[in-house]
Amino acid sequence: MATAREPDVTAEFGGERNVAQLHKISRDFRSDTLTVPTDAQLRAAATATRGDDVYAEDADVCALERRIALLAGKEACLFAASGTMTNQLAIRSHLVQPPHAVLVDARAHVHQYEAGGIALFSQATTHTVSPRGEHMTAEEVEGALQLGSDVHRAPTRLVCLENTLSGIVFPQAEIVKIAALVHAHGIPLHLDGARVWNVAARAADERGLGTGEDALRTVLSDLLAPFDSASLCLSKGLGAPIGSALVGPKKLVDRARWFRKAFGGGWRQAGSLAAMADHAITHHFPRLAGTHALARRLAAGLEDAGYTLAAPVDTNMVFFEPPRGITVDAVGQALAALPDPIAIAGNRCVLHHQTSAAAVDEFVEVARRLVEEAGEVGEGREGREGPERKRAKLGY
Ligand SMILES: Cc1ncc(COP(=O)(O)O)c(C=O)c1O
Repeated sequence: MATAREPDVTAEFGGERNVAQLHKISRDFRSDTLTVPTDAQLRAAATATRGDDVYAEDADVCALERRIALLAGKEACLFAASGTMTNQLAIRSHLVQPPHAVLVDARAHVHQYEAGGIALFSQATTHTVSPRGEHMTAEEVEGALQLGSDVHRAPTRLVCLENTLSGIVFPQAEIVKIAALVHAHGIPLHLDGARVWNVAARAADERGLGTGEDALRTVLSDLLAPFDSASLCLSKGLGAPIGSALVGPKKLVDRARWFRKAFGGGWRQAGSLAAMADHAITHHFPRLAGTHALARRLAAGLEDAGYTLAAPVDTNMVFFEPPRGITVDAVGQALAALPDPIAIAGNRCVLHHQTSAAAVDEFVEVARRLVEEAGEVGEGREGREGPERKRAKLGY
């Protein structure tokens, strides 16, 4: 018989306010960044080392960086404040001298949601691909590379992929093809792997490897092998309160460490943050397969109630389209009006390791009730408006 999990937050250690916060976010589907640090994470923080990381003298930060580099199969790692920071540090460190361009998926976080960082920090332009399918293909990348000497065009000096994007797993075979293509032209490949832990969890699950350190190293290093660098968020699916890791060759990571200082991101006694992130890798990575199962349960429940899915549910995100007569806003309002409210933002539902199964079931119940109230279920929006509309609504 499965034993019940210890509560992540107790009144004795975390206080009633944080017990209430944990309950609230267990019903919040807006993002996987909303997870609360557990009592165990904070205990680990309390005994963390207290050296100065700008001098690279904090033992726990150094140990975390060594651990992640090993897991990723890369030479070096830099622990920094956010996914935006590790993406932008990577991009800045790869690029040398304008004119230059970064090739990205038009929906990519580095392009759309990092406050114009590529232009600001790297003086680079972005060239975008709007994929015909769910992800960019090697053929599409090839068509968009700027390789010639036409002075009107900034040359491609970096290609960035994102895995997952909209919770969808990027097929590894296509990544390998893209890597071979860009490397043949001497162009490096960076991964925004904010949620690549979810891909790793899925791969470990499918391969029956378990969730231990060896399994994680096997799947993560395979996933990252085609990339020259990768940014791995620790504060999304894994549930660290803060932090992201940049992995790659030592020379690149050393350069990124320099830029991190210049960007004002050098942090001093960061050991407690490293300890919480380290705890998250050990104790929360094994929870991700359960999070994915819960996402599938939500998706199946919604489909059964007459909703359509706007994207495959590969990991922890569910994009839904209501049947005719029901709007996404109406679903959000009905969930928010529950005595114990459930929060969503638009039609993107993101699950995390503290999402409760009860919230998933209540969500489905509300969705079903709306359909019953609306009468006959019509044709889904997706059916009427086609895949172009679906894709336009998908984002990171
Ligand atoms: C795909 C992706 N990349 C990067 C980031 C940036 O992470 P952060 O919020 O830590 O800057 C996010 C954040 O949501 C993301 O979803």
